[in-house]
Amino acid sequence: MSKQEDFVATVSHELRTPLTSIRGFAQTMLASWDKLNDEDKKKFIKIIEEQSNRLIGLVENILSVSSGASDKLVLKKVNLKQAIEPVIKVISQRYPDYSINFQLNPKLPEGILDNERFQQIVMNLLENACKYSPNASSVFITCDFSDKEGYFSLKIKDEGVGISLENKDRIFQKFSRIDSPLTRSVQGNGLGLYITKNLVEMMKGSISFENNSDKGTTFEVKLPLYNPEEQVCSAAY
Ligand SMILES: Nc1ncnc2c1ncn2[C@@H]1O[C@H](COP(=O)(O)OP(=O)(O)OP(=O)(O)O)[C@@H](O)[C@H]1O
Ligand SMILES: [Mg+2]
Repeated sequence: MSKQEDFVATVSHELRTPLTSIRGFAQTMLASWDKLNDEDKKKFIKIIEEQSNRLIGLVENILSVSSGASDKLVLKKVNLKQAIEPVIKVISQRYPDYSINFQLNPKLPEGILDNERFQQIVMNLLENACKYSPNASSVFITCDFSDKEGYFSLKIKDEGVGISLENKDRIFQKFSRIDSPLTRSVQGNGLGLYITKNLVEMMKGSISFENNSDKGTTFEVKLPLYNPEEQVCSAAY
């Protein structure tokens, strides 16, 4: 079994949990519609929505690994503002109580990037920033660049639980989650950062994080501004 097949086999069983839950709540509602009050119905629909979101995220991550083109980057000129804004929109809908602030250096040039993979990087980091912060927190996204050093930087800062330094490598490993009351209360597969790091490295970039002096964490992704057109990298899943 190749590494990729092994990965897909392992992750496929993770699909079962949310699907079983969606089916269960749908069946309960169909069978007992008249007996359920409005509040219960709303609660069940909310669970179905949350589990569907979890499935969508998981499927996006699996596809990025298993698609035939997984080892080829689709590089083109990308306007970073236009790439990031739709991701913010999706996350804002998913986390309506959070305030997501976005600042971008207006002089930022277009990057030569794989747009879909870049959006997935932003999606995973932004979702974590909300997920691992108390309800109604603020999240700050900033985008800047260094022309001299030839990279641009994306920072995602949250006001959440932070990450202890002893876990600094573990969070990037496959299926790895840090146990805490908040982590236990939110859904996750421990795949987002693993995939994100792989995608960043495919694009010859780097990812790091540091804890903020007050609370929460800032993740930073640095990507080369001018990727050579012929660059094709292998993903190391
Ligand atoms: N911004 C953050 N603040 C605090 N802890 C974080 C943050 N981002 C990630 N973590 C910790 O790192 C772990 C791994 O993150 P990762 O995104 O890989 O998985 P996940 O969010 O648990 O699941 P998935 O992304 O696959 O749905 C998380 O379970 C969480 O414990
Ligand atoms: Mg995640």
